Amino acid sequence: MNTLGPSLDTVRQRLASIGQDHVLAGAEALAPTELDALLAQIEALDTDRLPGWIDRYVRAEHTFEAPTDLEPAPCYPDDPASPRRPWDKGAARSAGEALLRAGKVACFTVAGGQGSRLGYDGPKGCYPVGAVSDKPLFQIFAEGVLATSRRFGAPLPWYIMTSPLNHDATIAFFRERDFFGLPESDVVFFPQGAMPSLEKDSGRMLMSAPGVIATNPDGHGGAVRALWESGAAADMQRRGVAHLSYFQVDNPLANVADPVFLGLHAGAKDSSAEFSSKMVAKTEPGEKVGVFCSAGGRVEVIEYSDLPADLAAQRLDDGSLRFNAGNIAIHAIGVPFIEKLATDAAFELPFHRAVKKVPHINPETGEKIEPGEPNAVKLERFIFDAIPLAGSSIVYETQRVEEFAPVKNAQGTDSVGSSKLIQTERAARWLEQGGVSVARTPEGAPDCVIEIGPLYALDAEQLASRTDLPKSVSPGERLLLDAE
Ligand code: UTP
Repeated sequence: MNTLGPSLDTVRQRLASIGQDHVLAGAEALAPTELDALLAQIEALDTDRLPGWIDRYVRAEHTFEAPTDLEPAPCYPDDPASPRRPWDKGAARSAGEALLRAGKVACFTVAGGQGSRLGYDGPKGCYPVGAVSDKPLFQIFAEGVLATSRRFGAPLPWYIMTSPLNHDATIAFFRERDFFGLPESDVVFFPQGAMPSLEKDSGRMLMSAPGVIATNPDGHGGAVRALWESGAAADMQRRGVAHLSYFQVDNPLANVADPVFLGLHAGAKDSSAEFSSKMVAKTEPGEKVGVFCSAGGRVEVIEYSDLPADLAAQRLDDGSLRFNAGNIAIHAIGVPFIEKLATDAAFELPFHRAVKKVPHINPETGEKIEPGEPNAVKLERFIFDAIPLAGSSIVYETQRVEEFAPVKNAQGTDSVGSSKLIQTERAARWLEQGGVSVARTPEGAPDCVIEIGPLYALDAEQLASRTDLPKSVSPGERLLLDAE
């Protein structure tokens, strides 16, 4: 029995007052350790605010009204000579490189998601995705971090947000592989928070097993609180880290620390150096990516399902989409901004609801229920909701093939198969820029599979400077260019 926390009766009364005491049905029959674990789960809940969140996000339907002054967000074009907005890429690169050389940058990967669409039984970062090598996602990023740190001759700490569900498995994976050559002290893991999964009609907390509340990670926006409460933000401050290079665990092409982007974020006149983003041009009006817009003078991401169809379909004279700035979830975040977001109530990120199938038990009878239809609301925070809270947030355009090959699904769009094709296309372009001839099909796609490891080359320029490049890549060849 938990002798330190409140008594079972007190907890029951508290839960009864918010209509959630079913959670304690059968509590008396639990073993002492199980009861302790349940009371700890309840203690971690914000029971004062839960009823308000249920009214707002579970009982009420999602409604969204697009602001009447919605405009496309201004962007720094990929081509710095573009008449749309000429800018000094060289200066941005130098500024970013100086930050990296001074050790003022850390990488930050959000890896707490459940990866349910992929259907892989383990942390998503352990999933094999390398086009030829089948290297896991974590290894590809680790090698990128190591290569970048070596290039700039400075430590590049890497913070990885896990969830309570995959924290131990993630750490074990790194330990078994000796942290892929990174100094162990420069890889920092911390778990994000969890929210109870709520029955969609009643708002009651679901139970996943006797004495266990069903929970879900609280979204990538949970990073704010987790960075702060875990001490990770304080650790950054101790190390003198001023900016985070943020990317998701499912995108093997993410540049782990892009000097141009970091330099723009930290130094551009219109950036408050708090929260910056990369975008790629959308492929079609209905593509399922959020879009960077601007309203009331502030940048924000409008989710694809919320962007009015007529606006999504608007085109400019050159045929491109007017609202074309797709969010690929690559950001630069100022460390002081994390403190503001985490500690100032006015900067708290909102929740979003996702209706999902959550297996559970009937707490009164113990009967297992495998829902055929989505039965539960998961509440999640999204990191991009921090954008309009920044003083001035900038958006930088990048090429899709250079930086975006996400692995979300087991098959089809955004699967490991589609990711490997994009990885090969990028590698083929880099090789061609370095003077290597690459076999292509009549339609123009690479007629081969190529992978370039980050320790072999981090970008096209570094690749071109290598003296051991092959002359050509033949049809059907599988080529891995990697460190010895
Ligand atoms: P997704 O939105 O693709 O979700 O996450 P997911 O959980 O990985 O996959 P599905 O939807 O269940 O199939 C985008 C990124 O945000 C991280 C993920 O790990 C991924 O890097 N994320 C998501 C978190 O870190 N925590 C969360 O609670 C949710």
